[in-house]
Amino acid sequence: MLTIEGLTKRYGALVVLDNISLTIERGEIVSVIGPSGGGKTTLLRMIDLLEPADRGEMTLGDLVVDLKRPGKKTTLAVRRRIGFVFQQFNLFSHRTVKENILDALIYGHGYAKPEAEKRAAEVIAMVDLEDKTDAYPITLSGGQAQRAAIARAIAPSPDLLILDEPTSALDPELTGEVIAVIKALATQGMTMLLVTHHIGLARELADRVLVLDAGRFIEEGPVANVLEHPQTDRTRSFLERVRNLWR
Ligand SMILES: Nc1ncnc2c1ncn2[C@@H]1O[C@H](COP(=O)(O)OP(=O)(O)O)[C@@H](O)[C@H]1O
Ligand SMILES: [Mg+2]
Repeated sequence: MLTIEGLTKRYGALVVLDNISLTIERGEIVSVIGPSGGGKTTLLRMIDLLEPADRGEMTLGDLVVDLKRPGKKTTLAVRRRIGFVFQQFNLFSHRTVKENILDALIYGHGYAKPEAEKRAAEVIAMVDLEDKTDAYPITLSGGQAQRAAIARAIAPSPDLLILDEPTSALDPELTGEVIAVIKALATQGMTMLLVTHHIGLARELADRVLVLDAGRFIEEGPVANVLEHPQTDRTRSFLERVRNLWR
């Protein structure tokens, strides 16, 4: 459902993504792990066309996208098919939980108000936030805020859900409630691209793991293989450093 070929991104002299290729099948959960600064967030931003790449082509379903010059129409079409969950939630602070979701559906996806209301109620129930429907983000715990952000991302029924370290801004005791929501989405067959330092989460959810290091995938395979039998020293040392996050 998603393929990327030859994705290269530089910031000045720094090659952040070096000729990356990636395929995700429908219903698959692919996890990208790797050291900080390796290019994970940049990769996700390129896929959602938040910034142009220097080179690369993407297909998303029947869309063929020049990642260097996607064009306005294609950019909108891609964004409509992708839900994005950020590390820092990125909720609009002056809008309630429900309004954050309604705005996305109505202004981002062209829903009529009654359908948007119905869908917002559905996804708020899915993330177990009924009692926070009319709450403003500042009054929410990190776990609640991230669940609201996930509700907003899945409300338009995206083909692909991208999550960028969805639990890493949370206090440890709040990660469980967010992980439970992500797991529920997984059992519903949502296609996901999950960047995480939480190796335990990747191990539990992902069909396939890729290790991104200095802009290249240095390792790739079924999650058990990569985690239990890493082939490179760099992967081994990364996994060692995040050992406290294996469970
Ligand atoms: N807008 C930017 N301008 C300049 N350098 C950037 C920018 N965004 C990211 N970088 C650099 O690109 C590299 C990869 O960053 P990032 O994709 O955030 O890595 P990760 O998410 O794996 O930690 C880092 O060296 C970072 O400093
Ligand atoms: Mg990052």
